[in-house]
Amino acid sequence: MPRPARLVGPAPVLALILGGLSPACGDDGTSTATGSATDSDASTSDTSTSDTSTSDASTSDATETTGEPATGEALFAEHCASCHGASGEGSSLAYELRHPIRDYSTFVVRSGRPGPEFPNSAMPAFAADVLSDDELARIWDYLDDFPQASDGEALYLDYCANCHAVDGSGGVSEYDIRAAQSAIIASQVRKGSGGTNYGSRTLYMPAYSAERLSDAELDALAAYVDAML
Ligand code: HEC
Ligand code: HEC
Repeated sequence: MPRPARLVGPAPVLALILGGLSPACGDDGTSTATGSATDSDASTSDTSTSDTSTSDASTSDATETTGEPATGEALFAEHCASCHGASGEGSSLAYELRHPIRDYSTFVVRSGRPGPEFPNSAMPAFAADVLSDDELARIWDYLDDFPQASDGEALYLDYCANCHAVDGSGGVSEYDIRAAQSAIIASQVRKGSGGTNYGSRTLYMPAYSAERLSDAELDALAAYVDAML
């Protein structure tokens, strides 16, 4: 697959993406067109532009919450889905994110990343006043709730492909693992690499505990990688 080596995503495109994220809360009566996504479940006379009515209990757009806590799913939809896919499955703008390694993933969210793999996109940095630690934890919980993949290939795509490329040829880690044998693979996956050097694409690899990947899952995963060549 083509892998452009550009280091900086084009800012205008990013601006467009981010611009699309802003919640259209003041839906005035003039533009009645886009009523598709908003769940207008029998809202009785909800045409007023002034959003002062607090009695409306059906407002499910968790954007800009001023009091009530938003769910991880809603926070993900607001901040992440435009690039990472509606439910974290990934898109042409960013990786899939299900079953995140939390310390590493938190580092990426807090510091941002240019996105060499995605020329039309870049990972923004989210400061804690935009997305609190608690809110971020809810996003990770949401992403962790998806069912675990059940075969070697699917496990590989979920846990390894972001760094080693879908075909194992290297990816951002630049580490081609297609020739690796299953015993090496298994031990590498358990011990990881690079400590907490999360910023280095070529040094850091997460260590995966048995809670994250059981021995049986690791066997299936290692066998899949072992058979790549
Ligand atoms: C404007 C698009 C965009 C938005 C919005 C966005 N991301 Fe990203 N994200 C990216 C891109 C592009 C990358 C890949 C960066 C790279 O590899 O250098 C990325 C990478 C990541 C990674 C690292 C994944 C990996 O396997 O290395 C994590 C974790 C992440 N994003 C989480 C989030 C979360 C959580 C949110 C919402 C709070 C979010 N992102 C919002 C574009 C985006
Ligand atoms: C966040 C990025 C990242 C993820 C995710 C990742 N790796 Fe790695 N991997 C690396 C890096 C970087 C290296 C090189 C480390 C080094 O220099 O020792 C590496 C090295 C390896 C090696 C080479 C070991 C050796 O000494 O020959 C194997 C095998 C491997 N990874 C398998 C996997 C498997 C399987 C997964 C999924 C469970 C995975 N990796 C997930 C970044 C990653």
